[in-house]
Amino acid sequence: MLRRCALPASLALGAAALTASVLAQPTYARSDGALTGKPKLARRSTVGSLKALHSRTARIAAVHTANGTALGALDRRLGAIEAASAQNQTGAVEVPPVFDAAHYPHGINANFLCADKEKLDACYGGGGCGRFENPTIREIARNVPAIVAVMQAAPCVALRAGDTVLDVGAGTGVFAAPLLEVVGQQPSSTGQLVQLEVSEGFVALLRDKAEATALAGQGVVRVEQCSDTATNVEPGCADVALMCDVYHHLSMPLTFMRDLRASLRDGGKLVLIDFHRDDARIWSHPPGWVEQHVRAGQDEFRAEIEAAGFTFVEELKINGMTENYCMVFRK
Ligand SMILES: C[S@@+](CC[C@H](N)C(=O)[O-])C[C@H]1O[C@@H](n2cnc3c(N)ncnc32)[C@H](O)[C@@H]1O
Repeated sequence: MLRRCALPASLALGAAALTASVLAQPTYARSDGALTGKPKLARRSTVGSLKALHSRTARIAAVHTANGTALGALDRRLGAIEAASAQNQTGAVEVPPVFDAAHYPHGINANFLCADKEKLDACYGGGGCGRFENPTIREIARNVPAIVAVMQAAPCVALRAGDTVLDVGAGTGVFAAPLLEVVGQQPSSTGQLVQLEVSEGFVALLRDKAEATALAGQGVVRVEQCSDTATNVEPGCADVALMCDVYHHLSMPLTFMRDLRASLRDGGKLVLIDFHRDDARIWSHPPGWVEQHVRAGQDEFRAEIEAAGFTFVEELKINGMTENYCMVFRK
């Protein structure tokens, strides 16, 4: 970084040399010691030179002060640039991805960002008939038990009793019952299911369901509202995070994934399920839909998640799923 500097050495040397040359002007003296006319001239010229030197030094000092001011301004500017660059490196500043404006005219999560839990439940839950839970129209809804079974059986995830599992973007909570069954259903269990949602309406719906589950003695579920950029749970608290059809809905993926990584314990796992961006695999929607709905393909999403600090572990095969892939990452 630039720092304000002292009077440049070359200028200082120049001023000193000028002073020395003026002081070295020859003077003339008679043998009786009186000064001749010559010394008068010499004195005048010495005084004149000193004045010139003085004004030159003043000009140099003024220029130096101006330079110092300019250097100070540059210094502050560079400091700001360095701070911004450091922020970029830590992910504090993210340029949000571009979504298909025709497909998402009101924003990427407009359909979900609604406070009305009844309306959301009717549309997406509907006791198994809504868009998230209906197996006749959604591949995930057909495969919920198979997905959780693979999370248990695959050594790279090995979800088990006592684990804390985050269901990130839980929606209507379609994974709640099978996840609870694995990690522990009793209040005394150290295992915990934590459902995270950005939508106020889904949070309210999930809390209603969690209360009913607890009342029925079927387990304790914690529900938290997160933001576009943060999970809002304690750092290092989770063993496994599940994101099912959520990554393509993240408005600030890099920032959110960095924060999600911080929410996992060291060695914690991320199980990420999302759509293949390939019409040939999609049976639930018309041709062209997936290209609009999902902003990028599997390779690009994998690279983004790696850029957020996760390590790719492997892709898991889930029999019965053709539309969606399942990738596992490690913190
Ligand atoms: C297609 S739904 C999937 C719901 C659920 N995972 C499932 O498979 O049934 C996507 C969900 O992600 C949620 N979402 C979007 N951005 C989110 C974020 N930053 N954090 C948490 N949830 C988010 C939406 O509110 C929505 O409920």
